[in-house]
Amino acid sequence: MPKPLEYFTYRDGILSAEEVALTELAEKFGTPTYVYSKEAFLAPLRDLERGLAGLDHLVCFAVKANSNLSVLKLLAEAGAGMDLVSGGELRRALRAGADPGKLVFSGVGKSLAEIDEGLAHPLHSFNVESVVELKLLSDRAKAAGKRARVALRFNPDVDPKTHPYISTGLKKNKFGLQRAEILALLKRHEFAGVRIAGLSIHIGSQILSLSPFEDAFKKTKRMVGEIESILGSPLEFLDLGGGLGIPYRNEKPPSIEAYTKLIRKHFGPKSEIDGRYRILLEPGRTIAGNSGVLLSRVLYRKPRKTKDFVIVDAGMNDLVRPALYGSYHEIVPVEAARGKGKRRKCDVVGPVCESSDCFASDRPLADRIEGGDLVAFLSAGAYGMSMASQYNTRGRPAEVLVDGEGYRLIRKRETFEDLIGSEVFR
Ligand code: LLP
Repeated sequence: MPKPLEYFTYRDGILSAEEVALTELAEKFGTPTYVYSKEAFLAPLRDLERGLAGLDHLVCFAVKANSNLSVLKLLAEAGAGMDLVSGGELRRALRAGADPGKLVFSGVGKSLAEIDEGLAHPLHSFNVESVVELKLLSDRAKAAGKRARVALRFNPDVDPKTHPYISTGLKKNKFGLQRAEILALLKRHEFAGVRIAGLSIHIGSQILSLSPFEDAFKKTKRMVGEIESILGSPLEFLDLGGGLGIPYRNEKPPSIEAYTKLIRKHFGPKSEIDGRYRILLEPGRTIAGNSGVLLSRVLYRKPRKTKDFVIVDAGMNDLVRPALYGSYHEIVPVEAARGKGKRRKCDVVGPVCESSDCFASDRPLADRIEGGDLVAFLSAGAYGMSMASQYNTRGRPAEVLVDGEGYRLIRKRETFEDLIGSEVFR
């Protein structure tokens, strides 16, 4: 998958998205603005497709990572399916032109309205995580004269060795059904509106080694065997979730090639299960993470005895990952020359009235960076804009998609009127 500076490179000393200088985009659209590279989205998708060639498969982009309609359209046109976790994401995917047959409706708590909405379309499948939800889905499908195709989400109790907030496959997590729960539910005969055709897992996000995947795959195969012997018929597909990590700094995540090789080893035509299941994946970060940067302008530099505060015009409302998970984003000057010379420890902070509005602490930044300079927060294409809020009555950023030397605005900056538009006030 792309490195932070693979599709964003310095050209004539100016950081550029593909062939477009970020200075030009800042001038035209203002800051803060998310800037994406089209090719950076497509390259990892192609790598996943190449790695799974010859195996019946479907790569479903996890819409939660980046839900901009134009991004979804780009990926849908490249053949991707989508993984959805809300009725809103379902509507986005359909609006973007995704093929309903390539949509997977996941989510730990779907409302009745969302279940009905999902049933109204010929989706690939629902991932179901609780017995009560399965019963509800079954009843609603039956009432509508349908039979929904379902994968049970299995919680394999595997430690993904990632941040606790984004680890999802441990026994203590709210996600999925445990082995005993699955075995018990299969013995009940009250789910006439669904067809249990698959098993799904998702053990966490930003996973940096293959071993948690391998543990989960082994447990999944065992579980499949048990399920099939109770059902007396074979499952059709296995959804192996997302979670493959990306480099933000100097991490060395497994390559897409190594990851897909592992999948083939366990589920491919030459494995003991003989490639008989369609394999679904739900990658988000792998596809979008290094496809975007957040472009921001330095407002002020406030010198202090031990370090400086670099105050930028982006805030935690625009990119919440550092405040929420303590996560690292590389911060680079758009003009390479501003990054030269002596460095000094800095806290890079936003204008939001919270001390957690801090993108980096004690980060060595060049002395030359000062008010008026442009900086880019790298690796911000996944869980950046999609997690942005309007806290402090700040409109969310604009988004721009670059394609070679061309570009277009794919989301306008929110205005004050947008912010108050749905308030009832008299
Ligand atoms: N499928 C399911 C059911 C998920 O819950 C997730 C992510 C994915 C797929 C995609 O995972 P990925 O390939 O992107 O790792 N906001 C956090 C990440 C939360 C991930 C939650 N689930 C962050 O900014 O790091």
